[in-house]
Amino acid sequence: MTRPKVTVVGAGNVGGTTAQRLAEKNLYDVVLVDINEGIAQGKALDLSQAGPVCGYSTQVVGTNRYAETAGSSIAVITSGMPRKPGMSRDELLATNAKIVKSVVTELVSRSPNMILILVTNPLDAMVHVALRVSGLPKSRIIGMAGVLDSARMRTFIAAELNVPSTDVEAMVLGGHGDTMVPLPRYTTVKGKPVSELMAKDKLDAIVKRTRDGGAEIVGLLKTGSAFYAPSASAVAMVEAIHKDEKRVMPCAVLCEGEYGLKNVIVGVPTKIGRGGAEQIVEYELTSEERAALDTSAKAVRELCSTVDRLMK
Ligand code: NAI
Ligand code: 2OP
Repeated sequence: MTRPKVTVVGAGNVGGTTAQRLAEKNLYDVVLVDINEGIAQGKALDLSQAGPVCGYSTQVVGTNRYAETAGSSIAVITSGMPRKPGMSRDELLATNAKIVKSVVTELVSRSPNMILILVTNPLDAMVHVALRVSGLPKSRIIGMAGVLDSARMRTFIAAELNVPSTDVEAMVLGGHGDTMVPLPRYTTVKGKPVSELMAKDKLDAIVKRTRDGGAEIVGLLKTGSAFYAPSASAVAMVEAIHKDEKRVMPCAVLCEGEYGLKNVIVGVPTKIGRGGAEQIVEYELTSEERAALDTSAKAVRELCSTVDRLMK
């Protein structure tokens, strides 16, 4: 049986866990690529050997080369440096831009019809780099951040209200950074607006904790950043594409007029299906929400100008 091939680049914490989650789905063939010799091969072998115990027969190949990635339908790019304690996402910019540029070039030359899911930080700028170097249409370049940020908000709300986190819907837009835009107005518990269930100060505290969600985990782990929820989020996006789910997920994509934003990558509700980012869905925003999204887009634009300058 031929299965869709999904490549994961970067076999570190996020990439290794992404490969594991994909293998456990038993729906794909997985190719895991890393620049460091042995890590991708070792994790791929380990994951293959978990198959008979867990009940999957996914082929997992580990490699340092790109030949094995040929014919992939989707690639999840996690290669790069993770954020260290006290380090801003923006400081990662120059190093990770170079890595993403070379990885995207290698991938797309062998799988010209693939859809790229970017994870590497600073996320929005890495989507910009991928768009610049890949030549792929914007629908096939999608950044993962909003699904993760929304999942964090859902978890915090669920804990506060003592309800299952799966009953909570949340939408976090904007760039994946300090200017991200959690939208309490579009946050519901089984359809009930969260503002009717929680005092404003509690909700404000959750919005702040969501914005700081990545840093909170970096502070606890000390030697790296989050990877369980990030990999789960990336795999949810792979599934939405593979199964043509048409789910609306907050994703970092190129806006060309939507939300009044022109030529900037920012997290917006996006219909995800077989074609990738098939449509940006426009929610009605208050003037305050729109201003927050504009501020976030401005921050991303500045970051992208910096990356353009660095890459000249
Ligand atoms: P990690 O350090 O555990 O793994 C990174 C892997 O990339 C390493 O194995 C490294 O050898 C590999 N790598 C470096 N250069 C490469 C190249 N040129 N080709 C192939 N592989 C290469 O880091 P972790 O925790 O897996 O995080 C990966 C990235 O994802 C970081 O940039 C991190 O900030 C970002 N991240 C983004 C999230 C988001 O919401 N968008 C969430 C979590 C992490
Ligand atoms: C996070 O939000 C580090 O961006 C990563 O966990």
